[in-house]
Amino acid sequence: MTLRLSVLLAALAGCTGAPAADTGACGHAPALTWANFGQGWMDKHCVGCHSSLLRDDQRNGAPVGVDLDTWEDAVLWGDRIAARSVGDDADMPPGGGPSAEERRLLEEWLECAVLPAAAE
Ligand code: HEC
Repeated sequence: MTLRLSVLLAALAGCTGAPAADTGACGHAPALTWANFGQGWMDKHCVGCHSSLLRDDQRNGAPVGVDLDTWEDAVLWGDRIAARSVGDDADMPPGGGPSAEERRLLEEWLECAVLPAAAE
């Protein structure tokens, strides 16, 4: 999409209250991104075990290859992050930690940024 078109769409969404593709329904302006949200979330809660920088014996049992330290990792594992860290059955990180509000924001970021990128 050209810059001009996206600016126009954003302006239209603002006028009508209709959801813009990258923010509206997802609530945040600016939208939640890897840089402003996802990376910090993963650093705080996940990469202690799920990092490409950790050796097998440093991962506390987290499977080798299930790394969550880049945007590309998040896109690759997005549906599994959702399955394990959002909702009533959430069991990652194993010891708990994220507040209900943190998990709600994670869900929003997954739905609005990660899963759409994975579907492209
Ligand atoms: C204390 C270490 C630890 C932390 C922190 C941790 N995990 Fe895990 N993770 C594990 C272990 C152990 C397994 C393998 C056993 C299992 O699947 O329950 C695993 C497996 C996984 C898998 C692969 C299995 C599947 O269901 O596809 C995903 C995805 C995952 N974790 C996501 C996360 C996310 C997202 C976070 C951060 C919110 C996180 N983990 C934080 C230890 C951890």
